[in-house]
Amino acid sequence: MTKTNNFYITTPIYYPSAKPHMGHAYSSIVADVFARFNRLDGKDVFYLTGTDEHGLKIQRAAEKNNLSPKEFCNKISKTFKDLTKTLNLSNDDFIRTTENRHHKSVEAIWNKLVKSGDIYLSKYSGWYSVSDEAYYDENEIEERDGTKCAKLSGSKVDWVEEESFFFKLSKWGPLLLKHYEKNPNFILPTSRKNEVVEFVKSGLKDLSVSRTSFKWGIPVPNSKDHIVYVWLDALVNYLSALNFPDEKDKLYKKFWPASVHIIGKDILRFHAIYWPAFLLAAKLPLPHRIYGHGWILSGEKKMSKSLGNILDPLEIIKKFGIDPLRYYLIKEVSLGNDGNVSMENLKNCINNDLANNFGNLCQRVFTFLEKNYSNKIPKVSLSNKKDKEIIEKTINSLPNLVKLMQKQELNLYIRHVVDLSFEANKYFNDMQPWSLKKSDPNRMDQILYTITNQIKNITILLSPIIPETSEKILKILNIKSVKLSDINNDKVLNFNKPLNNISILFKKIDEQ
Ligand code: ME8
Ligand code: MG
Repeated sequence: MTKTNNFYITTPIYYPSAKPHMGHAYSSIVADVFARFNRLDGKDVFYLTGTDEHGLKIQRAAEKNNLSPKEFCNKISKTFKDLTKTLNLSNDDFIRTTENRHHKSVEAIWNKLVKSGDIYLSKYSGWYSVSDEAYYDENEIEERDGTKCAKLSGSKVDWVEEESFFFKLSKWGPLLLKHYEKNPNFILPTSRKNEVVEFVKSGLKDLSVSRTSFKWGIPVPNSKDHIVYVWLDALVNYLSALNFPDEKDKLYKKFWPASVHIIGKDILRFHAIYWPAFLLAAKLPLPHRIYGHGWILSGEKKMSKSLGNILDPLEIIKKFGIDPLRYYLIKEVSLGNDGNVSMENLKNCINNDLANNFGNLCQRVFTFLEKNYSNKIPKVSLSNKKDKEIIEKTINSLPNLVKLMQKQELNLYIRHVVDLSFEANKYFNDMQPWSLKKSDPNRMDQILYTITNQIKNITILLSPIIPETSEKILKILNIKSVKLSDINNDKVLNFNKPLNNISILFKKIDEQ
């Protein structure tokens, strides 16, 4: 199997400093949609998510809760792991940075960086944000209400002076710029890439990569007073899950370098600058792509644990189910841009696209089959121009849909699928098969065959986004599993067996 048939996708590993919120759910659902789409397209997929458990931020959160850091992480990490089930994620692994496999991997990277001559001992004095776990330059700081804050994130910074190992980041600037230029899709969307290029062009300083003022982390090999900087520690998770440093390991060989790291734009610098620089220094291949999506906003502000303005995904799921939430986030938030979420929008989106449109079409067609065809799909071969058109248009759009998903153009993809579903609805209404029962039953057969085939096609295309409901529809149609290529294959339809019981697919939301 060629390397290109493998697809490795990751989410950020989240800080278990507080319970997960909509922003975390969003990144994970986005990554899940790509993972599922690539599986549907016949790729061998590895989808990774997990928790980032070291550093002062976590240590302090544990202290606040009167628990040891490990006890605290066990507790909160579990809520993130449980969320993978609630969100119906298809992740292949869940990594925790407190695991032994990760510890080994971080030590190995550290040793490689030492060996390549990229690490030296000095002293750090400068600003540090515990909330961001990030160092900031003087020009990245501003005063807000008498408190020094990072301009970018608004989080409080403290002055830090301590002995520290440094990574020679400055020397990698020119090579990074060359890499960005040679690989125009390395950082997407392009607006984000431009930010990164500007930052690197302005000159990179060496990066402090160890801390000595607290203990909660992975000790630096042979220098036990130092612990590894939490971002160097965390980024390595993408390798540890593939059993690095065993470069002969099956997973590593198959899936490294990663196809795409899905992240929020808040952590772009770490992924698009530090991470490739560490990998270049360690002489390891770079990931193919970093995709920095926008923020989920609540009102005008970023939804965040620190800001406390959290819309709880669990409450929404409890009320409406998981697929409406997945559909809403994917359809209404344009990946790459910031997006506001609200109950009102959720309601309109679900009612218009799903309940009143695709769900309603399925319901009408299945009921029609039940009443007029003893619950079976009529088998015909297509001769009518209109019928052919609707099916062929879908088949012909496949290469483009695949291309869109390869470029993470998720919104163009879903828009196209929604158009197909509106068209299918219109077709069924315009053709009025119910009026042909007596006058032209053959024509009625053709229409029912066409529309059922098209429902199957749209369901396949929607399945990465709404897997649970898609499975329900396929089950009604007696279809066990599907591939993307089944859009061009009516043989997956079972013409002999009666359809299974119809259940409600999408409930209309009538909340105020
Ligand atoms: O940064 N809108 O973890 P974190 C959209 N541990 N996405 C959001 C969001 C919002 N309002 N809030 C959070 C860390 N996210 C590090 C990552 S990776 C090696 C280490 C998502 O818990 C988004 O993906 O602060 C963002 O980048 C991530 O959660 C930050 O999660
Ligand atoms: Mg954060």
